[in-house]
This record gives sequence, structure tokens and C-alpha cells, in this order.
Amino acid sequence: MAQNLDALRLALQHSPDNAPLLMLFADACLDEGLMEEAEQSFQRVLQNDPANADARLGLARVALLQGKTSQAAVRAEQILSDTPTCAAAYMLLARIHITEGERSKARAMYDKGIALDASLADPGIEKDLRGVKPPEDEAPGRKRGAMTSSGSFIESVSEDSEDEGHPRGGAAFDLGLADFEKPKLNFSAVGGMEALKEEIRMKIIYPLQHAELFKAYDKKVGGGVLLYGPPGVGKTLISKATAGEIKANFIALGLHQILDMWIGNSEKNMHEVFELARQNKPSILFFDEVDALAADRRDLRQSAGRNLINAFLDEMDGAESDNDGVLIIGATNAPWHIDPAFRRPGRFDRTLFVPPPDEAGRASIIEVMAQKKPIGELDPRALAKKTEGFSGADLKAVFDIAVEDVMNEVMRTGKVIPLTTKDLIKAAGRHKATTKAWFESAKNYAMYSNQSGFYDDVLKHLGLLKR
Ligand SMILES: Nc1ncnc2c1ncn2[C@@H]1O[C@H](COP(=O)(O)OP(=O)(O)O)[C@@H](O)[C@H]1O
Ligand SMILES: [Mg+2]
Repeated sequence: MAQNLDALRLALQHSPDNAPLLMLFADACLDEGLMEEAEQSFQRVLQNDPANADARLGLARVALLQGKTSQAAVRAEQILSDTPTCAAAYMLLARIHITEGERSKARAMYDKGIALDASLADPGIEKDLRGVKPPEDEAPGRKRGAMTSSGSFIESVSEDSEDEGHPRGGAAFDLGLADFEKPKLNFSAVGGMEALKEEIRMKIIYPLQHAELFKAYDKKVGGGVLLYGPPGVGKTLISKATAGEIKANFIALGLHQILDMWIGNSEKNMHEVFELARQNKPSILFFDEVDALAADRRDLRQSAGRNLINAFLDEMDGAESDNDGVLIIGATNAPWHIDPAFRRPGRFDRTLFVPPPDEAGRASIIEVMAQKKPIGELDPRALAKKTEGFSGADLKAVFDIAVEDVMNEVMRTGKVIPLTTKDLIKAAGRHKATTKAWFESAKNYAMYSNQSGFYDDVLKHLGLLKR
């Protein structure tokens, strides 16, 4: 998937206004959770073709995924006022209403969408809407539930909502977590990051491996660690490798699974996921892009979505169950969107900044990456010198560009042509480091809202705070 993304990004460098390419790229970005890039690409399509319904729909989807439900609804409704037969817009409205807890409105939208295009049937939505009637069919007085003081309607679950042969307790399975695994990856697959690896050994690995020592001092083993840093610096990679190092069970929830829970408002799924981790300890429960869950989104927290946030916090607190031996790792590029409530003691109370690699780190990453490619002669340090500010993902892009460059000749001659340092340095000149923009935002937060020194490591990295 990420490879596909890099190939598309490359293709767009040559053809930046190619609408079908932009749409493919935007969709791939959505899949990878790269909301801003997706949004920019849809916008770009609209600059040349303002009526493009797919791109407009794309923007609505981005808004929904970012938790801006009212913006998403407005966009979807605008599409429908221009194109009343746009089935996909009805489906999106159904999703939006589900997120807002408006299930009977969702039913009405879903039914309209299906009537226009039956191929859009979505078992996930159907499951959420089982037994829900559209609003016009609902006779007054038959509504179950209660009005809250704020006037919103809380739906009570009907007693028979769990029948019809649907398996109980299958939530983890629904989320595609049935076959979680002990990752084979370990620290040797991660280039550089020596300081971080050492911190992880001390703060994560050692306590989990020597639980009895910690217990002797009545110290708990487990809890939550938040990894943050620019995109592409290896947060996801090092989390997996950490699990591989200790041979712990690793249960990973990516953006998709998190969003599935939002859309289904599924506190039950949240509980099941934590239970799975508890039953398989020592285990690491990994929430990638955890800002999708822990974000300080007031509009969502007012709505039905707050149940999911509360469920997550309850599970982290281990209110009902014992989380000892379960380590929760969250990774994020946007720590400033994390609600401070998530950083209280017992929750994500330890934070690790993952910086972009320094020169020596880049040289190690280059060595790791070169192992998988035909290389003639390679001087990792020379390439490292020319790639200041590059993340691991940027370095991967450099390799991809260099490979792309020789591919023409490879296809012409039918021979494998080894890459050289020169090829790679040339490729590096055509790629722009992606970490700079991140530090521009991070610097503002670090300087102006550095509560309890949260961003000290960022300030140190920028040379704005003495070590
Ligand atoms: N330290 C590293 N060693 C080797 N590869 C790396 C490293 N950092 C990043 N990469 C490469 O970049 C890709 C993206 O890294 P990822 O872990 O997804 O970054 P993040 O989660 O911080 O956005 C990885 O799949 C890997 O190919
Ligand atoms: Mg990641």
C-alpha cells in the first residue's frame, strides 16, 4: 500500500494536474490516514473541475474521518442538491448520522442510497442499523429511550438486539484482529534510533521481562506510552519491533480499526480488544495514529462519540479489570491534538519523542535498506551527508526514485543493474525532506503550550533548550 503511494506520488511529480492520478493518490492517502495530503489532492482536482462529484465526495469523507461531522454533512448535502442521484453521497450521510447517533436518519439515507445503487450495500452499516426504522415509519409514542436534559435523544438498546445468530463477543474478530501475532521484526530491522531503543529497553522491555522484580516493590508493570514525532520517522516500525524484541503478543489497531469503532460507536469493541490483550499477556496493545481516538474534539465529545472516548479511558484505567502486564503504546504525528485527559497518570503517562535520524542514524537506516536492493558500491555516510532532515520514509523514497531511474535501462537490457552511491545521491536531490513542515508546527506548540515540559525533547532537538 505504502509502495503504491510512493509510486503515485512520483507519477504526480511528472503530471501534477492529472485528475485520475490525483484521485487515485487521494484515495490511497485516505487508506493510509494521510488526511491532509488527501484533502489537498481532492482540492487540486476541484481547481480544474469544480463540479467533480467524486472529488467533492472525497472532501466530505476527509471531513468525516477528521471528526468534522457537521462539515461532512454539509458537503454531502451540497452534492445531493446538485446531483440528487448520487448514491454514494447518501451512503456517506448514513455514516455521518451513525457517527452522530442518529440511527433512524441514517436508516433513511442508507435505504435511499441502496435504492439508487444496490452494489453499495455495506454489511458494516447494515449491522449497525439492524432493526432501526426510518423516521417517517416511526409512529409517535413508539419511540423507546429517553430525552436527556439537553434535549438529545438517547436510544435504549432493545432487549432482542443480540439475536439473529450473530456471534457474541466477536468484536476483535470483526476488527480483523483475529490472527494477531508475535512480530518477527526486531530492533535489527530498525536503523539508528540508538537512544530511543535504549529508552525502550529501560522503560518498556525490562519491566515487562522482569515483572517479579517490579512487583516486589509494589510497582505496576504496563500502562501507557505515547510515541510522537514527525511522520515517517519509524514510530510504527519501532513499535512492532519492540513487540518482536520481547516476543510479546502484539495487537495492533490502525486508523481503519479505530475509525470502524467510531462509525459503529462501538464501546463493546473497545472492551473486547482490551480483553484480548489481557488474556494474552504479556502483550502490547498498539494504537497507531491514536490521535484519531484521543483527539480533543469537542464536537465529537458532545455527541454519541464520547462514549467511545470514555470507554477507552475506562479500559486504560483498568477500572474493571487488571491491566498489569498489558502495555499500551500509542503513536501519533499530532500530539497537540491529544486531549490532556489521555496523559493523566495511569494512562499515556510516559512520552517518547521520536526524532528524525541524525547523520549516523541515517547511515544505519541506509545500510538496512540497502540489504534488500542490488547495490554496486555503497558509501552510506556520503549519502547520509546529503540527506539532512530526511526521515526513514524519505530515505525509502530515495531508494524508490533511484530504482525507478534504473528500471528503464534494466528493461532495455534485461540485466540487473546495481545501484550506486551516485545514483542514490542524485535521487536524494529530487526528494524534499518531509520533516521540516512538522517541526514548524511543533515549534509553535513547544514554545507556546509546553505544559509540564511535554515538548522539552522537541525544544532540545531544535537547540532551543539546553540538554
Ligand atoms: N529507522 C528506520 N529504519 C528502517 N526503516 C525505516 C526507519 N524509519 C522509517 N523507516 C521506513 O519508513 C517507513 C515508514 O515508517 P513508519 O514507521 O510508518 O513511520 P511513522 O509511523 O513514524 O510515520 C517504514 O515502513 C520503513 O520502511
Ligand atoms: Mg505510523
